[in-house]
Amino acid sequence: MKTAVIYGVTGQDGSYLSELLLSKQYTVYGIHRRSSVNNTTRINHLTNKKQFHLIQGDVTDSFNIYRLLNEIQPDEVYNLAAQSHVGTSFQQPELTWNVTAQGCLNILEVIRQMGNRPRFYQASSSEMFGDQYSLNNNREKYQDERTPFNPQSPYAIAKLAAHHSTTLYRRSYGLFACGGILFNHESERRGERFVTRKISRYVADLYWATQRGRSIPNLKLGNLKAKRDWGHAEDYVEAMWLMLQRDIPDNYVVATGETYTVEEYLKTAFKCINIIDYMSHVEIDDNLLRPSEVPCLMGDSSKANRRLGWEPKVNFKTLVERMVSHDIQIRGRCGEHAGDSEKFRSNERT
Ligand code: NAP
Ligand code: GDD
Repeated sequence: MKTAVIYGVTGQDGSYLSELLLSKQYTVYGIHRRSSVNNTTRINHLTNKKQFHLIQGDVTDSFNIYRLLNEIQPDEVYNLAAQSHVGTSFQQPELTWNVTAQGCLNILEVIRQMGNRPRFYQASSSEMFGDQYSLNNNREKYQDERTPFNPQSPYAIAKLAAHHSTTLYRRSYGLFACGGILFNHESERRGERFVTRKISRYVADLYWATQRGRSIPNLKLGNLKAKRDWGHAEDYVEAMWLMLQRDIPDNYVVATGETYTVEEYLKTAFKCINIIDYMSHVEIDDNLLRPSEVPCLMGDSSKANRRLGWEPKVNFKTLVERMVSHDIQIRGRCGEHAGDSEKFRSNERT
């Protein structure tokens, strides 16, 4: 039986990856940060499992990483830990760097010094491409493993440093280290400040408000023209695992190969509750525009398909419908408190 360590276990991907590894009979050590409030809601359903262990730790604490990895002696280490919100990285660039770039280097250095070196997965990101793209025969923009990087945010710069470190440690020290260049992936467990979940939560609140004969304030959004390649997180954690099962470590793009604007997501989400005139519920808030933006992401994951046998199962429309329908269910259970999230949304500045 294999043993895995997951940094970032409390996040969206950490929860799905834990489920996947447990289903494959792994023993999983999830590393989580101490928090003054509960940060384990996505993994509470796993904490009673014998093969799942939650341990306190932080990727910015090298001593802690050294002690834990040497005690656990895992077969695989997944680094999903990051300050992962692009907008926030403009407000907190140093913190973003320390967690997202330095944190990865800290883990790589510890693994380099271990006798039995575990395999390592780094959560790299399509944000690293920034405004760069390649052109296919139909003159359509796409990104793959050969597309140059030109990061457009402190987050993307930190991710690129971590990605290059992962490649360097593989080439220079022979670590089995893989960089998964994952495009946007969402789910019913997506953080509430990412645009897809922000919209699905609003649509759910609007649905319940209408049912109860009430109105709610408009949804404030930033750039609606940006294009993203959106998949479902459950599919994407499988690609992470597949990368570490190969004979040879490498970097892979993981994406659906389709791209949609934020406005198309918005339109599809409102359609789930039969609202066509979605813009009458939306306000553009300049505070939500970013100092620089990634205009268009569309990944070509042919390499992952060929070498890992990976392909996405959930398409765009199903993704949106699943998120909206989930939020309608949980916001319904919240009842009277459903409007509270609006106070939070109107205070959001990223
Ligand atoms: P997420 O939900 O924001 O989860 C991030 C995780 O990192 C959380 O568990 C968080 O813990 C943890 N973390 C933050 N600072 C930490 C620190 N100092 N030490 C240890 N853990 C720390 O992100 P996600 O969507 O699951 O994404 C997983 C990873 O993939 C991230 O690295 C992200 O940047 C990357 N990525 C995501 C996407 C996407 O579309 N989802 C695409 C490409 C790459 P708390 O719960 O305590 O905050
Ligand atoms: N968050 C947010 N909030 N984004 C908004 C809003 C808003 O109110 N209005 C418009 N957007 C636009 C952003 O400007 C961006 O162009 C797009 O919606 C998607 O934003 P996010 O959902 O925050 O995701 P992201 O693409 O910036 O970053 C996500 O994907 C990356 C992979 O490409 C994150 O998961 C990153 O961690 C990940 O690396």
